[in-house]
Amino acid sequence: MKKILCVIGTRPEAIKMAPVILALKKEPWANVRVLATAQHRGMLDQVNRFFGIEPDIDLNIMRPNQTLSELTARLLLELDGVLRAEKPDAVLVQGDTTTVMTVALACFYLQIPIGHVEAGLRTWDMQNPFPEEANRVIAGKLALWHFAPTEGSRQNLLKDGIPDDKIKVTGNTVIDALMMTAAQDLELGIPLDSERRLVLVTSHRRENFGEPFRNVCRALCKLAESNPDVQFLYPVHPNPNVKDVAYSFLSHLPNFTLCEPLDYAPFIAAMKRAYIILTDSGGVQEEAPALGKPVLVLRDETERPEAVDCGVVKLVGPNYDAILREAQQLLDDEAAYKAMARGVSPYGDGQAAERITRALKEHFS
Ligand code: UD1
Ligand code: UDP
Repeated sequence: MKKILCVIGTRPEAIKMAPVILALKKEPWANVRVLATAQHRGMLDQVNRFFGIEPDIDLNIMRPNQTLSELTARLLLELDGVLRAEKPDAVLVQGDTTTVMTVALACFYLQIPIGHVEAGLRTWDMQNPFPEEANRVIAGKLALWHFAPTEGSRQNLLKDGIPDDKIKVTGNTVIDALMMTAAQDLELGIPLDSERRLVLVTSHRRENFGEPFRNVCRALCKLAESNPDVQFLYPVHPNPNVKDVAYSFLSHLPNFTLCEPLDYAPFIAAMKRAYIILTDSGGVQEEAPALGKPVLVLRDETERPEAVDCGVVKLVGPNYDAILREAQQLLDDEAAYKAMARGVSPYGDGQAAERITRALKEHFS
């Protein structure tokens, strides 16, 4: 048996690693262990409950309003002991969070092979997204296996000097998770007017904190005031830099519902119910096109250009005028709406976890 340690820290890692954990658990050759750093607490637990995943080890790292350096330092100290005790044959990480970067570094110091799920995403701009671009570049340099979601991400890895035989294009496991979930009977659990269109909003990017995020909120406020017949739903990220601002700008609006982060299944229900989605989330940029929902991305750059190239996702930045103009056009112009509301899935076919499992099996046999 080979001991595979799967590490999860935040909500998106838990969602995107769940299909891999579930697929590996079916393999007789794999002794699967799950390590939760709990860089996120509540939002990680929500996802694990939904997928029935119980971490074997939980570092319970999260602190309110944690800084990047304190999080990194505490993680590295804890990880060293855990990895020495566990002695895994391989460690899997997913994405570009502080958890991913520190686990890659701790494994490198102990010479434990790392598989990077969702490898090769790049904007080639270290400040955007911050600090995620640096995290994935560092993880990419240290990983042994690179599970790239798309051909574009494979090309990025080649450009970064990763040998071709260490890269496997698998699709993104986010689509595996979405397919496992979207087929179920989903309840949103928030009362909405069935006659009115829904604009769904999420936002949490660190590079937007401060004035850029206030601009986003001002634009959302104006949009809601100009469109009283449209309802808005915004499950607010618990980071105080987001939550406090969002509530102060938007909570007074009668057609704007602010709520706690939704569990994964209700959030998929919200996406399915939405007319358009405004977000700076990476995962939502991947899921929404597969559900045929137009997305306006509240960022200037994206490491997920495939859906933009397909014409179903548009970058509007944290830019007041662009947000208002593009959202209003989608609400008013049916042809423009239809052009973006096409179901396309450039990020995967739902088989990514199987491909990752097969690649690991081949390696170990
Ligand atoms: C992190 C990731 C980001 C990812 C995002 C997904 C880093 C640097 N950032 O950003 O790449 O897109 O997760 O959501 O790795 N909090 C809670 N409860 C939770 C989670 C967070 O209260 O369940 C609050 C805490 O005050 C915490 C703060 O949010 O200190 C920030 O959490 P952190 O993981 O450092 O950053 P995110 O902005 O969530
Ligand atoms: N999501 C969720 N509840 C919410 C908002 C988002 O379950 O209230 C899910 C969403 O479906 C996607 C993931 O969380 O799979 C995205 O996580 P997030 O936006 O926090 O991080 P990112 O993808 O930007 O790293």
